[in-house]
Amino acid sequence: MMHLTTLAGTLFTAHELTSDDGPALQALLEECVDYHELVLGHPPGPAEAQAVFYAGPEAGSSPDNKMLLGIALKDSAPLVGVLDAFVDYPERGVWYIGLLLFSPTARNAGIGREVVERFALAAAANGARELQLNVVEQNEPGLRFWKRCGFVEMRRWRQWLGARESLFIRLRRSL
Ligand SMILES: CC(C)(COP(=O)(O)OP(=O)(O)OC[C@H]1O[C@@H](n2cnc3c(N)ncnc32)[C@H](O)[C@@H]1OP(=O)(O)O)[C@@H](O)C(=O)NCCC(=O)NCCS
Repeated sequence: MMHLTTLAGTLFTAHELTSDDGPALQALLEECVDYHELVLGHPPGPAEAQAVFYAGPEAGSSPDNKMLLGIALKDSAPLVGVLDAFVDYPERGVWYIGLLLFSPTARNAGIGREVVERFALAAAANGARELQLNVVEQNEPGLRFWKRCGFVEMRRWRQWLGARESLFIRLRRSL
């Protein structure tokens, strides 16, 4: 099964994370208290990185065909973001973004947009015809970001995640 182990743009480089990167990933997640509170209703836990390593695309689904990339600024080592994605989920030909998260200090500088565009190109080059993801309604900056990246709404439903119930929005983008 084809999946990416690296990705690069003009602003960033990304490499597959291994268990050696656990502490760096944990530190990044702990910088993103805002995101965890907004989406899960609680701050990141002490084993949050471990949970991300083994997370499936959605609650209750297994992490088959998973790629977990750590994102750094070009010519710099520290992790500033993470991209977790799945090949052929929820169906063949669709690549699903489970998590795209940047440290608060790395946001709003165009890195996210470039990561999505490079990821879309790589997915298409490896046979994908569509990207999909979920965003929760209260994540207004996230929803705005994905729409600017060309994603359109497929459906909405209510679901519990962590300590809160949210309205989930499934988005798709054709490649
Ligand atoms: C959502 C997220 C992934 C976007 O990544 P990002 O690197 O901040 O995205 P960009 O910088 O490419 O774009 C974000 C905004 O910054 C603006 N921006 C881009 N380059 C900019 C620059 N040089 N200066 C100022 N603003 C800029 C863009 O206009 C964009 O605005 P919009 O979202 O209203 O369209 C990131 O903010 C994040 O990690 N948020 C928390 C986690 C999250 O919500 N993830 C999505 C879950 S579904």
